[in-house]
This record gives sequence, C-alpha cells and structure tokens, in this order.
Amino acid sequence: MLLHLREPRKSGRAASRRSTRCLFLTIAFLFLIFAKSSVAQTRPTPRPEGSRGSSALSSPLLEARVSELLRKMTLEEKIGQLVQYSAGQPTGPGTGRTDYEDMIAKGQIGALFNIVTAKRTNAYQRIAVEESRLHIPLLFGLDVIHGFRTVFPIPLGLASTWDPTLVEHTARVAGREASAAGIRWTFSPMVDIARDARWGRMAEGAGEDPYLGAAMARAYVRGYQGARLDDPESIAACAKHFVAYGAAEGGRDYNTVELSERTLRQVYLPPFQAAVNAGVASLMSAFNSLNGLPASANPFTLKKILKEEWGFQGLVDSDWTAVAELVNHGVARDGAIAARKAFLAGVDMDMASSLYHDHLAKLARSGEIPQAAVDDAVRRVLRVKFALGLFEHPYADEKRENTAMLSPDSIALAREAAERSFVLLKNSAGAAGVPLLPLSPDTKTIALIGPLADDAGDMLGSWAGQGRPEDVVTLYAALSQRIGTTRIRYAKGSAIIEGSDEQIAEAVQQAQQSDLVILALGENAPEMTGEAASRAHLGLPGRQQLLLEAIAATGKPVVLILFSGRPLTLPWTFEHVPTVLAAWFPGMQAGPALVGTLFGESTPSGRLVVSWPRSVGQEPLYYNALSTGRPAGDTDLSRPPPGGTAKYVSRYIDEQNSPQFPFGFGLSYTSFRYGQPQISVKEVSARALNQELRLSKRQAGGSVSVSAEITNTGAREGEETVQLYVRLQGTSVAQPVRALKGFQRIRLAPGETRKVTFNLSADSFSFWNDQNKFEVEPALATIWISPDSARGSAVTLEIGK
Ligand code: NOJ
Repeated sequence: MLLHLREPRKSGRAASRRSTRCLFLTIAFLFLIFAKSSVAQTRPTPRPEGSRGSSALSSPLLEARVSELLRKMTLEEKIGQLVQYSAGQPTGPGTGRTDYEDMIAKGQIGALFNIVTAKRTNAYQRIAVEESRLHIPLLFGLDVIHGFRTVFPIPLGLASTWDPTLVEHTARVAGREASAAGIRWTFSPMVDIARDARWGRMAEGAGEDPYLGAAMARAYVRGYQGARLDDPESIAACAKHFVAYGAAEGGRDYNTVELSERTLRQVYLPPFQAAVNAGVASLMSAFNSLNGLPASANPFTLKKILKEEWGFQGLVDSDWTAVAELVNHGVARDGAIAARKAFLAGVDMDMASSLYHDHLAKLARSGEIPQAAVDDAVRRVLRVKFALGLFEHPYADEKRENTAMLSPDSIALAREAAERSFVLLKNSAGAAGVPLLPLSPDTKTIALIGPLADDAGDMLGSWAGQGRPEDVVTLYAALSQRIGTTRIRYAKGSAIIEGSDEQIAEAVQQAQQSDLVILALGENAPEMTGEAASRAHLGLPGRQQLLLEAIAATGKPVVLILFSGRPLTLPWTFEHVPTVLAAWFPGMQAGPALVGTLFGESTPSGRLVVSWPRSVGQEPLYYNALSTGRPAGDTDLSRPPPGGTAKYVSRYIDEQNSPQFPFGFGLSYTSFRYGQPQISVKEVSARALNQELRLSKRQAGGSVSVSAEITNTGAREGEETVQLYVRLQGTSVAQPVRALKGFQRIRLAPGETRKVTFNLSADSFSFWNDQNKFEVEPALATIWISPDSARGSAVTLEIGK
C-alpha cells in the first residue's frame, strides 16, 4: 500500500523568510508598474459569461509575474512544477514514492492531491514556501465532485435538475468548503458525454447531450471559480477527461474509443469548449485511446484543438498514471518515451506516474523536448498558482476550516438540489383511481422495505468527497421523523447483493400488514457506480428483483424508489409497479428530500438526461442519433417482423428501438399542455447566419424566434422544463433526428398559461460539415418545442442560400 499519511515536518528559517520578503517586494514593485495598465483585468466587476475566468489567466500583470519567476528557475525547478503526487488516500494504482517532503524542499513537486485537512496542506505548504529555493507554493487538488463535506446529489442527479444556476450554487458551496481545507483545485467537472449506461462513470457527468452538458460545464466552472479565482473561497476547476472517454467501446471503463472527427466536434468536445470559454483553469487528459492514439499523447486534441484553436491558457494535467500507461497502450516502449510523447502532445503536468520527474530534464538537455515547450508548460502551472493568489496567501485558515462546513444554508441547498433531481418515471392510478403519489395523508401504516431505505453511506454516491455517513439523513430516519416509527414497518428484505429467503419472507409479512409499501432498491454506490464500475447487466443487483416481485405479489400498492448511478433495465417493473421514482444518489439530505416529495410538499420536476433503456442490448442508446437509410418509421416494433419486405428496417427483432423513457422525460404531480409552436420567420439565409457565426454573436442570438404556449392543466402548481429541438435535412452530412438547442424552466400555477419564447442563434443551425467547418448550410429545419425528446409538435424553417 502506498499510503503516506505521516505529518510533514515543521520548518521555518530566517534566511528563507528574508528571501520570501524579498520576493514579495519584487512582486509589489511589479504590481505598481502594471497596476495602472491592467486595472481592468485585475479588479473586475463580474465579467460577461465566457470571459471571466480566461481573462483571470491571461492578464498582463499575471504574465509579467510568471515571466519574472520563470527567469529565476533552473531546469530542474521548472520540471518540478510539472510533477504531481497523491499524498493521501490513493485514487488509482500507486507509484512507489513517499519522499515528498524532501522533494518539495528541493522544488521537485508542483502539486499534491488527496490531502484533506488544512493542517496537513499547511504543513506541506510550509516546506514549499519556506524551504524551497524559490518559495513557490504547492497547488493542492482533490476530487471534489458533488460537494466536499456537504454532499449534494451525484452529478447525473444534479444535471437532472436542468437547472444550471442551482448547480453553480452547489459548486460554490463545494469550493467554499474545500478551500477552507487548503484545497484550491478540484478535478471537476467531469463533462464527458455518456451514451452508454453500462459505463459506470455516467454517474459523474451530465448525461448524453452536448448542449445540456455545455450548460452544466459552465455552471460548475462559474461556481468553483467564482467571479475571481483569487477569492480565498474560489477553487480552480478541471474539466475532464479530455476527450471522448465516455465513448469507451462496450461501455467498459478505460476501453478503446473509435470516433469520427465530426462526432468528436459535435458531441464530445462542446462541453469542454464551454468550460474553456467560461475560463476553466485546467483540463485533465483522459485514459482512453482515440482512433488509436491515447488521449494523453494526442497532439491533435491537446495542442491543435485545445491550445491553438480554443486558445486555452490554463494547465493540462494527466489523469492518474495516464503518462505511464502509454507503455501499456503500446505507443511507448519505456517511461522516457512515454514522458516525451505525453509532454510533446501537450500534457503539462504528470499526475502520479513520476515519469516527468524521472525523464524530462534529461530529455530537455538532449534537445528531445524543446526548452521553449518546458517554459510553456511551466507558465501554465504558474498562471494558475498566481491567479489563485497562492503566492500572497499560500496557507489555509485553520479557523475557517472549523466554521465553513455544513452551514445551514448549504444543507438546505443539498435538500433543494436533491428534491429537484428526482425524476418521476411512472405514477399511474392505483386501486382508488388516483395516482399513489403524492401520498394520501390517510395512509396509516407504511411498509418501508429495501437495502437502501436506511443506508447512509450509499446515499452519498461515488466520489463522496469528505461526506460522512453520520451527516446523512436516510429515508427511514426522515420518514420516522415525519410519521413516527409506530406507523412504519421496516424490513431490509435483502442486502444489495446478498440476501436470503427469510429476509424476503419477513419483508412480505411487513407489507401484508401495511396500507402501502415504499421500496428502496438499487445499486451499491461506491462499488457499482463511478470509476471502474462498468456493468454488463443493468437489472437490479442480487436478489432485489425477487424481493420486488414478492412484494408486488402481495397486491399492496407499491411506490418504488430507485437509487442508481445510471438507468436500470427493468421492463417487468415498469409493467407491474404503479409508481417509480428515480432518485439517483441524492446526497446527505436524501431522506428529507424524498419524504417532502412523497408527501407532496415538493413536486417532482427532474427530467432524464440519459435515454432510459429497455434492455442492455440497446446500448449505446441516445436520442440524438442519425436516421439511417432504413429508419423504422411507423413500423410496429413491439413484435417480431412479420417477414416480407416489412422486415428490412433498422430494428431489433426482439426489442423495440425506443427507450423505456426518452431523454428529457419526467412526470410531475400536475400536467402540462403544449400549444402549437409559432415561428417568427419562415425563411432565413445561410449566408446571414454564417456571417453571424463569424462575428461570434453566438450568445446574442435572435435571428429566429420560436414560441409556444404552455398550460398547467392540473390542480397543483408545478415546474416544467420546456425543451427545444432542431432537425436539419438536406445538409452535406447527416445530422441527428433531433438535437437539443434550448431549454427553459417555468413554474405555472394551476390553470396558468405562459408563452415561452426561444431566440435561436446561428449556432442552433450550424454543424461540422463536409468541408470540416462549423457552418450553416441551406437546409430544411424542423423545430419542436416539447416536453421531452420524443414528443411535441413542430414548425419548419427554410434555410436558403
Ligand atoms: C482517476 C480518475 O479518472 C479521475 O477522474 C480522478 O480525478 C483522478 N483519478 C484523481 O483521483
């Protein structure tokens, strides 16, 4: 085991303090010189979206400070800035080093991660700042994925809120708490598009859609990095995993990816570009190979697209030992070649493999890597450190650490985020002729059954930060508080995997003696979701299906709450169980959020961000697919083809093509009616739209507006996510049958009608065409305003020359 949990030594020497003072005087002098000219960049009022963070990394003052420091650095000290190790609980296979203290004092380490307290980060920082020759502070990173101590729903759940502002607030809280522990860098957001539910890491991202993924990417970056990176409560974000990691063949983690440049540009890159435009300070290069070239040695994606086309000024970190893994990929025969290839491709910092430390200086001396490239990589690291204000404030405030965690506001936000993340999949009328949810106040006894009804740890999901089970309120705890334990008949029924007939029998007995059953079933969060948790079977694990069927056989009304990091294939369930709520892993406020929803204090408003499959054989399954030359059209796919010519369509003979529930789907306790959409113009010219693209009026929009009236037709207030989709036909290359290009959340009182208008920009109609350019072409555009990706009425727009 490669744990290194020893306290770093204390130190403090007069000489080094003197030179620290000297450095600060120089910096202060430089500041005076540049302050006048760069005041706009350094003391900004909040800048418009898309510019704030990037300018935080590219001000003249910052660049001058970087240059000044760079001039003083030896080659070894430069390489040191490009080296990163885990000095705490490992999150990957180890590297064998533990001599971090000596390395820090020698200036051989630029960043550490997996250290989680202010005391420990400060102790390591003291060595860097007081003992190393140039006093360059360390950057401390951690996987703060959906909260630090206050744990929010998993990112898939957060995305299901379709509420970027809410997500931004959760990221802000995570940043505030993590920074109090000295962590100024998070390996989040994961913006990988996930089209295959077998892939365990679907849980960590925003699902299958690039437009929604981009919106979420911006939200996380804004939340973590705030208006200013040098705000002590801001942390640098890291968009990962660059790129196409989610397209792993067969949904098997770390697996090979084969992808056209078109799909890369249209589907997998947009969330990264959105993060870059929002000013993300860093990116992480992925494990997978892409068309034969490992993503961590790929100059096309890292250099050409990211650094040249997009002008990214921040730092590219490798994923854990991804540099060393170039040998396993077979593109490097030894560590030196792996280091050279990764570095030349554009990986600035080596996470955990130690190969930059071992080889880069020699490679630079022999001329195999240019000195200028070393300087460029070091600049990127230093930019982030200066932008974070680490040179001025290298240490965490240990007092703040005690007060920053779990504030009442943060806990309230965790509850709100959980409530909004739930997706009501089914809520059909029970015996009384009304849907089971919200629960009737007359329900006297409730049987609460299932392995996840009282499991605090699993509610936190994978990558639970510093979340603790004792902070979690489970469904059992919250329900007991709500109706009292005497009205609850609790039985576990089964563990997540293991279980016995006796447990099921006991659960059946409890169900029989109750008015209604709430079943809490699903996956084990740390083992079955997240990294290295791909599944070939997507049913309920272990004996839970047996348990479910036995409970359903009692004839009691059943509300099923599914806890999972992905959609599960449960055709029997959706046929036989009247009410099903997808709760994902809701975080520390799981119980109160669920109980509030069950009793109707909050109305479900989450919408699916992934297509929900009927069977594993349909995967990868995503709504924004191409048509094929033999689309199924109106063919009845619920039965095998009758033979004859009707058989020759793109279909399975034993399963429908459609998902169980489409992308964008989710029920409410009320209902909504969509009016026929109206469009502002019948025709636009491709030339004008291309002009708009070139002038980058992307945010402005307004060339075309489409609107529809939405009415709340039910008896309760509710929130609806109104979605806009576009299809283009007649283009030089095939485009998806629908692609999301806008969404708006509205809250409507019973009977209320609201007109919702979308102003579409040229971006909504552009795509990566046969000339390898993002352009608008003459086409027929079909535009839907709809409640999900499978319904709604459309209008058409002629895009002429
Ligand atoms: C490997 C994972 O792929 C990545 O997401 C994570 O940030 C690093 N380990 C660091 O823990």
